[in-house]
Amino acid sequence: MRKLFIAGNWKMNLDAAAAKELTTGLKDNLCDCTAAKVDVAVCPAYVYVPQVVEIAQGSPIAVGAQDVYFEGNGAFTGEVSVAMLKDVGCKYTILGHSERRHVIGETDELTNQKLLAALAGGLDVILCIGELLEERQANQTEAVIERHLRKGLAGVTKEQMAKVTIAYEPVWAIGTGQTATPEQAQEAHAFARSIIADMFDNNVAQETRIQYGGSVKPSNAAELLSLPDVDGALVGGASLKVQDFMGIINAGASTCGCGCQ
Ligand code: PGA
Repeated sequence: MRKLFIAGNWKMNLDAAAAKELTTGLKDNLCDCTAAKVDVAVCPAYVYVPQVVEIAQGSPIAVGAQDVYFEGNGAFTGEVSVAMLKDVGCKYTILGHSERRHVIGETDELTNQKLLAALAGGLDVILCIGELLEERQANQTEAVIERHLRKGLAGVTKEQMAKVTIAYEPVWAIGTGQTATPEQAQEAHAFARSIIADMFDNNVAQETRIQYGGSVKPSNAAELLSLPDVDGALVGGASLKVQDFMGIINAGASTCGCGCQ
């Protein structure tokens, strides 16, 4: 049984005081019972990672970065290595986010280099995939999902897949308030899982967590998180407020059906 995984992508938001307040609020509100059912991570901007790691210590909240570079060290001005992130207590890194792909211009090949370096260096990866609006309109959704997976996961072993989470984020749903319908999300997730089964095997596909991302909020989280192939959420805007992010986490915990909520 795949455990739900809900991660907050803070993007280029918050200052030190706000990051501290948010992390403290989450730590105070996340009970052990919920944490037993939902893995939770927050992904601040690089500069706040050490501070957030320190505050989150002793809590079930893991900390991730929003990117990493594939080289180990050297003359790569502005970049941050896997070892550096490990050094400050980072557990995850997001890779291939649509803003990296479409605003910064990162390719599938670069995303793959980063992913292989992250896994080799001991970071868990959240690999983002998903189509632009014009790609969906041109019936290219499955082709884009397949390309992002095949190119992004090239060279990854079956064993390493235990450290990989996929985040299906239709670009037209990110930060727009427009969420994929449950049918669209389930269809895309099931398709992504079928590609993972083809690339690795059915067992890997069944074990791999696939998060949905794109305007997830407390009001739509329960429905999305109860879909058979949705194993969590990558949350942007709604992860910046304790109440909203906790609302999503609690919605996830209550979908497990154990009756403890
Ligand atoms: P959003 O962002 O929840 O604000 O739509 C999601 C993401 O980009 O990861």
